[in-house]
Amino acid sequence: MAALKRNMPMNGLMDRVFGSEADHAVVKDYTSLLEQQAVMYQAMLAEQDAKICETQAVVRAREAVVRERETVVREREAEINALRAGRDAPGRITPPPGGDLADCIRAVLPQLEGWCSLQKALWLAELVTKMSGTRIGEIGVYGGKSLIPMALAARNRPGAMVYAIEPWSNSVAVEQATSGDNDQWWREVDLNKVKLGFISAVMDCGLAGVVKLIELPSDEARCAFQAMRGYRFDLLHIDGSHAEGQALADVKDWLPLMAPDGILVLDDIGWETVTKARDYLCAACDVIGEVSEGSGVSYGAYRTRQAPALAEKPEAWATLLSEVLA
Ligand SMILES: C[S@@+](CC[C@H](N)C(=O)[O-])C[C@H]1O[C@@H](n2cnc3c(N)ncnc32)[C@H](O)[C@@H]1O
Repeated sequence: MAALKRNMPMNGLMDRVFGSEADHAVVKDYTSLLEQQAVMYQAMLAEQDAKICETQAVVRAREAVVRERETVVREREAEINALRAGRDAPGRITPPPGGDLADCIRAVLPQLEGWCSLQKALWLAELVTKMSGTRIGEIGVYGGKSLIPMALAARNRPGAMVYAIEPWSNSVAVEQATSGDNDQWWREVDLNKVKLGFISAVMDCGLAGVVKLIELPSDEARCAFQAMRGYRFDLLHIDGSHAEGQALADVKDWLPLMAPDGILVLDDIGWETVTKARDYLCAACDVIGEVSEGSGVSYGAYRTRQAPALAEKPEAWATLLSEVLA
C-alpha cells in the first residue's frame, strides 16, 4: 500500500481511504493492549479454575468423611439392634417422664452397669448443676453409671458437653498391674458389650447431643486435648485405671488441662494404689470435700487454684518460687 500511495498525487484522499501511518500505529498499539488484556484475563481465569478445583477437592474430602461417619453410625445402630434382639441384650432404659433430675437419676441408675452409688451419682449431678462453666469430662466410663447422672444434669445447661474418655479395652485396663484378682477380672470382662450398653443408654436417655465419646486411653486423649490449645475442663471425674502409676499420671497430667477454679473428682481415694494420686491433689488443689460411704466407696472433690499471671503478679511468682525452693 505504501508504493501505491507514493505514486498517487492525492495523498490526503488516500489517507482518508486507507488510513494514515499514524492511524496504523494507534491501531497496532490498541491491538497489542487488547492482546495483553486477553493474556491477563486468561491468567485470571486459570487462577479461578485452580481455586474451583481446590474447593471441589475439599468438598469431596468432606463428603467422604461424612459418608464414613454415616457408615460408623449405621454399624453402631446395627450392633445395638442385634444386641437388643439377642438374649444378652442391654434392656431399653426408660427415664421417667417429667423434669425432676433426682427422680430421673434414681430411676435410671439401677439399669446402668458400673460402681457408682446413688449417693455419689446425686452428688456428682449436684456438682454439675452448681458449677460454673460447661466443659465436663470423665476418665473411665465403663457402663456410664457415673457419667450418665452428670450428663442428665448437664443437658439443662446451654452449651454443656460431657466427654466420655474410655478405651473399653481389656489390654489397656491391665496395662499396669493393680492386684492379681482385680487384673484377672479386667482381663476377662466383655468390655465391648459394656460399651454397647453405654451407647444404648446414652441414646435411650436422649443424651446424644451432650455426650461426646473419646474412645482412647487417657494418655492419648490428653495429648488430643493438649493439641486443642486453650481447651480447659471445668469438671473432670477421674475413675480410670486404679494402678498406682496410671492413677497418679491421670491426676498429674490432666491437672494442667483444668480451668482455674475447676473441680477435679477422684474416685476410690481409699484404695492404697490411689493414695499417691490423692496426696498429689491435696497438695496442688484446695480440698472441697472427701466422702467415705463405707463398704469401700470413697471419693473426693478438689478445686484447682488460680495460676498467678507472670507479667501481672511478679510478687506472687516470687512467693511461689521461694516456697518451691525452701
Ligand atoms: C472403675 S471403672 C469406671 C467406673 C465408672 N466410672 C462407674 O462409676 O461406674 C474403670 C474404667 O477405666 C477404664 N480404663 C482403664 N485404663 C484406662 C486408661 N488408661 N484410660 C482410660 N480409661 C481406662 C476401664 O476400661 C474401666 O472401664
